[in-house]
Amino acid sequence: MRHLLLLCLLFTACTAPPTKPVGKTLILPTPLGLPRLRVPADNPPTAETVALGKQLFESKLLSVDNSLACANCHNPQLAFTDQQPVSTGVRGQKGKRNAPTILNAAYNADQFWDGRARTLEDQASGPMMNSLEMGHSLEGVEQAINGNAEMMSLFRTAYGPRVKVTVNLMAKAIASYERTIVSGNSPFDKYVYGKQMDALSPAARRGMGVFTDAARGNCAVCHTIEETYALFSDQKFHNLGVGLNPAGELTDLGKEQGKFRTPILRNVALTAPYMHDGSLKTLKDVVDFYVGGGNANPYLDKEIKALSHLTKQEREDLVTFLESLTGDLPK
Ligand code: HEC
Ligand code: HEC
Repeated sequence: MRHLLLLCLLFTACTAPPTKPVGKTLILPTPLGLPRLRVPADNPPTAETVALGKQLFESKLLSVDNSLACANCHNPQLAFTDQQPVSTGVRGQKGKRNAPTILNAAYNADQFWDGRARTLEDQASGPMMNSLEMGHSLEGVEQAINGNAEMMSLFRTAYGPRVKVTVNLMAKAIASYERTIVSGNSPFDKYVYGKQMDALSPAARRGMGVFTDAARGNCAVCHTIEETYALFSDQKFHNLGVGLNPAGELTDLGKEQGKFRTPILRNVALTAPYMHDGSLKTLKDVVDFYVGGGNANPYLDKEIKALSHLTKQEREDLVTFLESLTGDLPK
């Protein structure tokens, strides 16, 4: 009996379609100012899975009517955003939330504004099957890819000739591609971590002071800066009162009681409009929002208080500092 079981196990191991890449594992780059990325043991990136992931990310085959790719809402030419307040899915349907950039999304502890997906792998199949986004079905996407010679050839190169295309495997390849979409080495990084004293202008240096000083901007309490790297996010969820309607109610409760994840602020000068609902147009609008103490509501985070003590100069310096967080973009 035991032998039989072992044989069956061996047999399936030999005949099950492969889900591990065949190529050599890639060493992912770690730009100045960022920590090393942790990669799931069951999804080591290879040059071939990354190339496949990029192709999938840019392919309209992933949407039910072949009208939308991931790259439409996360456009590499627009710092991987769509620069719209909220995104538009298949058949012109408007969503409720602003499309975050893919740049450095690999560093998010959870994915989405409300953290409802854990990993990039968990996240990637979501939009394909979301009726408001790409509107496809599991079988539909798998069929579309199976019927495409170019895609199948990329799959075989990445996973071997016996590969079977599943949405799971597509999600893995997309996640591996996304792990290469990282960006650091900004003027801020050169100044703080590269000890290049002329990398930041005097205004940006003053702005950094306002950002980190608990008695002035108090921004870094949530948008954290560590000793050896900076993600500008505590990876936690907070209520700022964004999305309050005229009746004073929160229109989107996010995680709970209007809480959303502290976004990573890297490249923020390139990713307007801002906040989970895209309601603020410019970085100046964001600073003004904080100066006003957010939007009053019963669940407002205790760290959000009016900053009326900030001078006009300090407010402008804060914006200049945020602009110094623009890093090298992946090619
Ligand atoms: C119709 C536009 C649209 C399409 C198409 C789309 N996305 Fe998104 N994406 C969004 C929006 C909007 C959000 C934020 C949703 C939320 O937080 O509830 C998002 C969130 C994400 C996030 C989380 C980022 C973060 O900082 O939390 C990742 C990663 C992502 N998308 C990858 C993809 C991939 C991969 C595809 C293709 C399989 C894709 N997206 C297709 C609009 C889109
Ligand atoms: C209590 C924690 C907290 C503090 C303090 C805080 N933030 Fe934020 N920040 C957040 C959260 C959470 C969001 C997203 C809120 C939402 O969309 O509902 C956000 C959003 C932003 C955004 C928009 C990013 C984007 O991609 O849309 C910018 C810019 C920003 N904060 C800058 C600052 C600055 C400057 C300060 C200091 C004046 C500051 N923050 C203080 C938690 C905080």
